[in-house]
Amino acid sequence: MTTISAHQLARIANEFQTPCWAYDATVIRAQIARLRQFDVIRFAQKASSNIHLLRLMREEGVMVDSVSLGEVERALAAGYASQAAAGGHAPIVFTADLLDRATLKRVVELNIPVNCGSPQMLEQLGQAHPGHAVWLRINPGFGHGHSRKTNTGGEQSKHGIWHEELQNALAIIDQYGLKLVGLHMHIGSGVDYDHLQSVCDAMIAQVKICQRDLQAISIGGGLSIPYRGDEPAVDTAHYFEIWDKARKEIETLLGHKISMEIEPGRFLVAQSGILISELRAQKQVGSNFFALVDAGFNDLVRPSMYGSFHRITTHAPDGTPRTTALRPTVVAGPLCESGDVFTQEDGGVVTTQDLPVSEIGDLFVFHDAGAYGSSMSSNYNSRPLIPEILVDGEQIRQIRRRQTVQELIALENS
Ligand code: LLP
Repeated sequence: MTTISAHQLARIANEFQTPCWAYDATVIRAQIARLRQFDVIRFAQKASSNIHLLRLMREEGVMVDSVSLGEVERALAAGYASQAAAGGHAPIVFTADLLDRATLKRVVELNIPVNCGSPQMLEQLGQAHPGHAVWLRINPGFGHGHSRKTNTGGEQSKHGIWHEELQNALAIIDQYGLKLVGLHMHIGSGVDYDHLQSVCDAMIAQVKICQRDLQAISIGGGLSIPYRGDEPAVDTAHYFEIWDKARKEIETLLGHKISMEIEPGRFLVAQSGILISELRAQKQVGSNFFALVDAGFNDLVRPSMYGSFHRITTHAPDGTPRTTALRPTVVAGPLCESGDVFTQEDGGVVTTQDLPVSEIGDLFVFHDAGAYGSSMSSNYNSRPLIPEILVDGEQIRQIRRRQTVQELIALENS
């Protein structure tokens, strides 16, 4: 839940027009504070990669994970150094399952540690730069996710080095004199406690097989947030305790202290972000009542992609919440595609949310949209990317302006 007031909501919609994103800095800082027990909080910037948000993260002491050349450049633009100060933690780690040629060149140039998810990454990196710092991303053989598409472990996942292939990966590390920093596991988004102990056990087992000196482990991200409001929030102290026990066991095996990194995306930013749209049309279609807003799945794709739930609230143009009678409402966007519906289940079945009877011009606000919202947006139907606004207490600041149609088509002008 953001602290953005009704008044601020209306002001943002008026000043920057809809649709637009708004983020609450206070929520981000509060979420960071909940993870302070971990040695390193490394933000998985794929969740939200605006450089102003990255800057906020950096100012709070949060490190960053990048998964593409663009994300590396964003981290640098936000002021992250490419290398750690003496004895410190690497500000940027690059995580992937392959290295394209341009990225390989850049991570070598900048000496950014690479979290490798395939043997070829190790080989290509070793050939380009013997001695480069690497992490091994291990697929422990099982995974978990809020949707099949966000499960990043097990045989159906392309991610990570298969746990039985660890020796092979170590042989490549030796061949090129690569420097192994630590082991990493991220089994999916929306981790539950049943799997948590299994991941800890898998990490310990891998450290035993590894038989190498390690400086660190990374336990990945995956912390969920209560999208529907009634799910229990993650007990971060308990989460830390479980991992800390595993860490201590690993430290005993290694004979020295190691650092423990956590790599959340969603947890840090999801609840800080809202998507503000305007109701532009409404109609009865058989038994369904449709409210059509000016944001589409090119802006927020999660419902169309995973059947994800985003709580919707409706407001008069001055920001006041509507309190009229509730009506089961299908909320959909402007795209020329039937799947452009914000209220749907995985598989595309249209559902409803009970929303107050609204008037054209009302603001429809999608909540908990700060993670994998803007960062997954596209230009589908030739719709420009929309503005991003940062609210910090009383201060309202545009941190990305709206893309213009001219900018959109400029790449095609020869
Ligand atoms: N670390 C690695 C290596 C990852 O692959 C991911 C997410 C994370 C950390 C952060 O996971 P989080 O804490 O945000 O769950 N687009 C989907 C989520 C895809 C996650 C991909 N990897 C969604 O909208 O739910």
